Amino acid sequence: MASEGFDIKRGLKDVYFDTTEASFIDGDVGKLLYRGYNIHDLAEKATFEEIVYLLLYGDLPNQRQLDDFNVEFRGSRSIPEEVINVLRVVKDCHPMDALRTGISALSAFDPDVTDNSIEATRRKGIRLTAQAPTIVAAHHRIRNGLDPVAPNPGLNHAGNFLYMLRGAEPTEDENRLIDVDFVLHAEHGANASAFGARVVASTLSDLHSAVVTGVAVLKGPWHGGAAEEVMKMALDIGQPENAEEYARKLLDSGGRVMGFGHRVYKAEDPRARHLRERSQRLGQEKGQPHWFQILTYLEQNVMAPYRDRGIFVNVDFFAGSIYYLLEIPDDLFIPIFALGRIPGWTLQCMEQYSDNILLRPLLEYTGEMDLEYVPIDQR
Ligand code: ACO
Repeated sequence: MASEGFDIKRGLKDVYFDTTEASFIDGDVGKLLYRGYNIHDLAEKATFEEIVYLLLYGDLPNQRQLDDFNVEFRGSRSIPEEVINVLRVVKDCHPMDALRTGISALSAFDPDVTDNSIEATRRKGIRLTAQAPTIVAAHHRIRNGLDPVAPNPGLNHAGNFLYMLRGAEPTEDENRLIDVDFVLHAEHGANASAFGARVVASTLSDLHSAVVTGVAVLKGPWHGGAAEEVMKMALDIGQPENAEEYARKLLDSGGRVMGFGHRVYKAEDPRARHLRERSQRLGQEKGQPHWFQILTYLEQNVMAPYRDRGIFVNVDFFAGSIYYLLEIPDDLFIPIFALGRIPGWTLQCMEQYSDNILLRPLLEYTGEMDLEYVPIDQR
């Protein structure tokens, strides 16, 4: 055994490893600010385009700045035919894997790929934010035997995504639902995927590699995968009266109710409020109120005792029901999260590059020591 007594912070819990101006989180009271602006204001009043600008340029744009930004942003949505062909090759994989592969392939065509200056990283972040929905939509259509739909420069980011996915323009309400969802997912401190992206940037690798890593880390069910799992659970439960028994069995067998709990929030995740209200309204409009009833039963009954332990709903809990009611297949839930998060990953890489230090922690070795090497024919 190696020596003992190191101060190990398993899972890097409660460890501050740098400073940031991207977002402020007070997990005890459930407060979230993007560059100083409260998420409650932003979710109700701002568009995703304004958020991308806010994060990448440092403040909310005026109208002229937003118009100029939109020219660049909307003009960056196309992806090369070669990347579409890569998506054809991998058409049977999970959409999150297709997104990861597509972003990786895009690096072969980006003129700034090896330039890690702040300006080039911002340009690449804008391009990747604009191109990623095109990848997700194209892959989805290809796997369904359909031709990809070209981006529509007349639509905003959220509306264009739904348009490319379905081949038809969304309603204003559908557009705003996805817009708000993107706003809520845009940035969130040192979460696992942003940390992964920062580790990549800290080696002075490039933004495409960092975003590929962000997508890979986000995929796990303990991170971005939870929304998909929540809706699978709601579908398994079927009706509100089955919720109690289902959840008790799950918890008694040591399982976790997805969409609850958070490493930082020990109060309600402030993003959940905006999706809760919208999930309820959409369920009523679509004549399917029971999904919301199942979710609120879990929240207000089964999981109520967990509040004393700081376990509340997180952003993923109601998101899945919204996507489901918009008839978006469940394996697209995580990619949608990723589409919203690319500006946050980009900003964090910009921060990492601007005052870089290699991210390289230590592990305490607990294995055998000084073993004698035995030649293979004598083992
Ligand atoms: N359901 C039931 N029990 C839970 C849940 C849950 N969703 N979450 C945490 N707990 C319990 C754990 O079993 C553990 O209990 P114990 O102390 O008796 O062993 C205790 O709460 C602490 O859990 P940890 O895993 O140590 O807490 P951590 O901060 O590491 O985990 C995490 C946070 C991974 C998000 C966890 O709450 C979880 O697995 N939640 C479900 C998955 C989920 O919703 N992920 C999305 C997070 S938000 C996001 O990434 C966008």
